[in-house]
Amino acid sequence: MSDTQTKVPQLSYDATLNHQRIETKPFIKWAGGKRRLVPVFSPHFPPMRTVGRYFEPFLGGGAVFFHLQHPKSILSDSNATLVELYQIVRDNVEELIGKLEEHTNDKRYYYNVRSQNPKALSAVERAARFIFLNKTCYNGLYRVNSKGSFNVPFGHYKNPQICDAERLRAASAVLQISTISAVDFEEALSEAGAQDFVYCDPPYHPLNETSSFTSYTAGKFDADDQRRLARVYRELDRRNCRVMLSNSDTPLIRELYQDFQIIEVQANRAINSKANGRGKITELLVINYGLE
Ligand SMILES: C[S@@+](CC[C@H](N)C(=O)[O-])C[C@H]1O[C@@H](n2cnc3c(N)ncnc32)[C@H](O)[C@@H]1O
Repeated sequence: MSDTQTKVPQLSYDATLNHQRIETKPFIKWAGGKRRLVPVFSPHFPPMRTVGRYFEPFLGGGAVFFHLQHPKSILSDSNATLVELYQIVRDNVEELIGKLEEHTNDKRYYYNVRSQNPKALSAVERAARFIFLNKTCYNGLYRVNSKGSFNVPFGHYKNPQICDAERLRAASAVLQISTISAVDFEEALSEAGAQDFVYCDPPYHPLNETSSFTSYTAGKFDADDQRRLARVYRELDRRNCRVMLSNSDTPLIRELYQDFQIIEVQANRAINSKANGRGKITELLVINYGLE
């Protein structure tokens, strides 16, 4: 079956939510993506049937959303280009697939597409360009310079799957249950309250100066933003909203969340000091609720 033919997304029944889930995963690679950590987080999620609305204000690749698939999902990220991509996947997936199939994995072609002015493209073309660059660039990184231009080099992959039509259609079906907006986390969470569940996955506080990765947007996420987020966390706690937050294991993060339950989880991450560049590292999960 070719990619362009419609496949019916696989359904499975989720007894905790009483609705049909669609088996799927994120459709983009994203730095700090939680796809592999979802099974580790799973025992710590509140039962979805007790949750009125689900908020994910640092959406990125959306691994937790695609896992939970809560029927009232309020998604956001400050990266407006990423948010536009989600909106197109939700609302215009067939046209997006058509545009994506026009792209090819070739170095010269890649740099041509990279140099395009995104503002001169239609929203669907911009979304296709985003996925194309994400699938063919070095390591699936999203990095922009101070002017907001994407500046990651060609990835030299032999056969990247530029257009995974089946996964895009599944993502589109799941996204029908969501609202998605491009806002800062503080604004996104201003309405969350009792009955709601929030999962926060901010850019991690760096373990040291060189491990910092804060280039998801032209802006940055520094220690003051981590403090601002901790204030929002406390405010949500006061409103009896259940909140889960993941972050790196640093003295600042442990201090900011010392009044809440901190769970250590083991993650596979790139570690510069190791010869092969990868290894297990402790990360923190902070929750403000008990599980019956
Ligand atoms: C660690 S990533 C989230 C990864 C996601 N959980 C996943 O599984 O792919 C952090 C995200 O926060 C977004 N972000 C950065 N600053 C933000 C802000 N002030 N408000 C909302 N989102 C922000 C970035 O664009 C990025 O997508």
